[in-house]
Amino acid sequence: MELIIQRDPEAAALLLARIVANEMRTNPRTVLGLATGNTMEAVYRHLVHMHQTSKLSFAKVRTFNLDEYVGLAPDDKNSYRHFMNERLFHQVNIKLENTHLPDGCAADLEAECRDYEKRIEKAGGIDLQLLGIGKSGHIGFNEPLSALRSRTRVKALAPATIKQNAPLFGAEHRVPRRALTMGVGTILEARRCLLLATGEAKAEIIARAVEGPITSMVTASALQLHPRATVIVDEAAATKLKEREYYRWIFANEPEWEEYR
Ligand code: GLP
Repeated sequence: MELIIQRDPEAAALLLARIVANEMRTNPRTVLGLATGNTMEAVYRHLVHMHQTSKLSFAKVRTFNLDEYVGLAPDDKNSYRHFMNERLFHQVNIKLENTHLPDGCAADLEAECRDYEKRIEKAGGIDLQLLGIGKSGHIGFNEPLSALRSRTRVKALAPATIKQNAPLFGAEHRVPRRALTMGVGTILEARRCLLLATGEAKAEIIARAVEGPITSMVTASALQLHPRATVIVDEAAATKLKEREYYRWIFANEPEWEEYR
């Protein structure tokens, strides 16, 4: 795992967007794994800006989102499909048929999950998976106790997640209780994972995920098993990391990061 500390949320999001853009320029047919949440909004803003100002093309890119709420239709303003259309898809030259999210309104949710896995496989797997982290330590909606080898499935949301996402719905009781989510095992199969976390509220859970034991209680900790996982944080989210000076040294000195410094 690599850990990169940037001075503020904007710089952290820009760094992630630049890594994604470089991948897309090297491989125009990149398969992106996408995430939702407030943290990701800045990343999509930067990608849209790069599309408008430096011809970053999404023409051949295919995308698979991590998750979707059960019972929310694509045009529901709280659905993740709506989030992605608004923040990214409608603002770049991506073909909508190349964008995938699990269908939270499917009649047979289990069949939908199986089909989602097949669609990812058919696309050749995910090249770059973007991830946020929930206060429960989740990646996607892999709440505490999610098997580290889990696949796309229906998952009940943890109380901490319902609380965290409630402001968007206006009240806790309006937040759906279940979601479809890629499993931890599905996520770990991506060729590269990039997790972005910013703000003081994420400091504690980032320290547990990065420096704590690998545990299904904090599914982001499973990234420790991934051969190519990069965690990008801002100063506020880095405050509880014990080895932060070491991580800073690596970013400042390793040739791999030269173009991003
Ligand atoms: C939701 C998503 C997660 C995301 C999390 C973080 O719960 N299912 O994939 O990581 O939000 O959200 P935020 O960036 O708003 O803190």
